[in-house]
Amino acid sequence: LKEVQYEKDLKGKKILVTAGPTREAIDPVRYITNHSTGKMGYAIAKTAALRGAEVTLVSGPAEVEPPMFVNFVPVVTAKDMFEAVTGRSDEMDAVIKAAAVADYRPKFVNTEKTKKKDGDMAIELERTDDILKWLGEHKKDSQFLCGFSMETEHMLENSRAKLKKKNLDMIVANNLKVAGAGFGTDTNVVTMIRENRETELPIMSKEEVAGAILDEIFEIKR
Ligand code: CTP
Ligand code: CA
Repeated sequence: LKEVQYEKDLKGKKILVTAGPTREAIDPVRYITNHSTGKMGYAIAKTAALRGAEVTLVSGPAEVEPPMFVNFVPVVTAKDMFEAVTGRSDEMDAVIKAAAVADYRPKFVNTEKTKKKDGDMAIELERTDDILKWLGEHKKDSQFLCGFSMETEHMLENSRAKLKKKNLDMIVANNLKVAGAGFGTDTNVVTMIRENRETELPIMSKEEVAGAILDEIFEIKR
C-alpha cells in the first residue's frame, strides 16, 4: 500500500482545497466554462490527505475521480462554490484555491432552449463574486491563504498584484504557454510567490508540485 510511505506530518491540520472549473448556464442546454480538469487541486487534496490532514475538497465539474479520504463537496457554479467555501473556511488552517472560477456568468438564464435566428447574437454577462478576495478580507492571522494564478503573459507581475489585492499569504503562478504547465497536463511548472520569497520550481508531476506547496505552506524543510 502506497499510503504507508507517507509521513503523517500534516496530522491535525484542517485544509480546504478548491479545484476544477465552474459551469455557468446560458440556458438548459448550454453553459460557459474553462479548460480546468481539476488535476492540480485533486493532487493537493490527495497528497494532504495521505499526509494525515483533514481535507475538504470543494470541486466544480472536474474530469478526474475524487481522491479517497477527503470530504468531497461537489459544486457547479461560482455562486455554489462561494457558498460552499465561505461556509466552511472559518475553521480551516489553510485554504488552497486551485479552482478556475468563472469571472462572469450570463446575466439572464433562459428557462427554455435559445432558438437560433438569422444574424449574430450577444450574451450579456455579469461578474461573479471573487471567493479568494472574500477569504482575504475575512482571514484570521492563524489561517494560511494560498491562491493560484494562471497567466499567458506578465506572469510574475500579475500574480504579485493578485497576492496583494486579495491579501494572500502565497500565490502559485503558472504560465499557460510554458511546455508541461497548465490545463490537463500531468506535470506543472510553477513559481510560489510570497511577500518576501519567490521559489521557482522545475517541471514536476502535479503530485510533486502538491507536496512542495504543502511543505511551503506548513514550513516543512526537506
Ligand atoms: N478566484 C476566486 N473567485 C473568482 C475568481 C478567481 O476565488 N471569482 C481565485 C482563483 O481560484 C485563483 C485566484 O482567484 O486562486 C486567481 O484567479 P485568476 O483567474 O488567475 O485571477 P483573477 O483575479 O480572476 O484575475 P484574471 O482572471 O483577470 O487574471
Ligand atoms: Ca479569473
